[in-house]
Amino acid sequence: MNGDLQKILFDEQEIKNEIGRAAAWLDERFNGKNPVAVCVLKGAAMFFCDLVRAVKTDVQLDFITVSSYGSSTESSGKINILSDLSADVKGRDVILVEDIVDSGNTLFALQNLFLKRGAKSFTSVTLLDKPSRRKTDVCADYSCFEIGDEFIVGYGLDYAQKYRNLPYIAVLKREIYT
Ligand code: IMP
Ligand code: MG
Repeated sequence: MNGDLQKILFDEQEIKNEIGRAAAWLDERFNGKNPVAVCVLKGAAMFFCDLVRAVKTDVQLDFITVSSYGSSTESSGKINILSDLSADVKGRDVILVEDIVDSGNTLFALQNLFLKRGAKSFTSVTLLDKPSRRKTDVCADYSCFEIGDEFIVGYGLDYAQKYRNLPYIAVLKREIYT
C-alpha cells in the first residue's frame, strides 16, 4: 500500500461488485431507451469506464469537466464549466456519473444545468456518498458506497492531482493534507 494512505476502504473486487449492482439498476431503469451517460471529469473517469462497460443499455457517452477542489479539501461552493459536453441534451435522458457527492454543490449545479438545457430526465449515479458533509439538499439517485467524513483517494479520486491511478479506494493520512 502507498505510504501516504491510512487504510484501504474498498478493494478492486468490492468496487467491481458494486458496479455490477449499479449497472443492473441502470439497465432496469433505462431498458429500451438511449440515454446520454455523462462523466464528470476527472474524478469519475475510472468509475465511468467500468460502469458503462457493465451496462447492457445502449448509452451515448459524453464528458464534462467542472472546477472542483484544486489542492484543498474543501468545496468552494460554486462550480465553473472548464470543458462542456459535445451532445445536446435537449429531450434526452441524462445519466450523470459522479465520483463523490460531498457538499452536494456540484450535483445540485449540474442537475440544474441539464434540466435548464431541456433534458427529458435526470438521473445521478455516484461511486461514493458522504451524507454527513451535505450543504445542499440533494442526493444521488444511486450511490455505490456511503462513507463518513474522511478524505478519500484512488480509483479516480485525487488529492492535488495525485493518487487517481490507484486501483482501490483509500483514506488519505490526515498529515498529508493538513
Ligand atoms: P461537492 O462538494 O459535492 O460539490 O464535491 C465536489 C468534488 O469534490 C467531487 O466531485 C470530488 O472531485 C471532490 N471531493 C469531495 N470529497 C472528496 C474526497 O474525499 N476525495 C477526493 N475528492 C473529493
Ligand atoms: Mg469530481
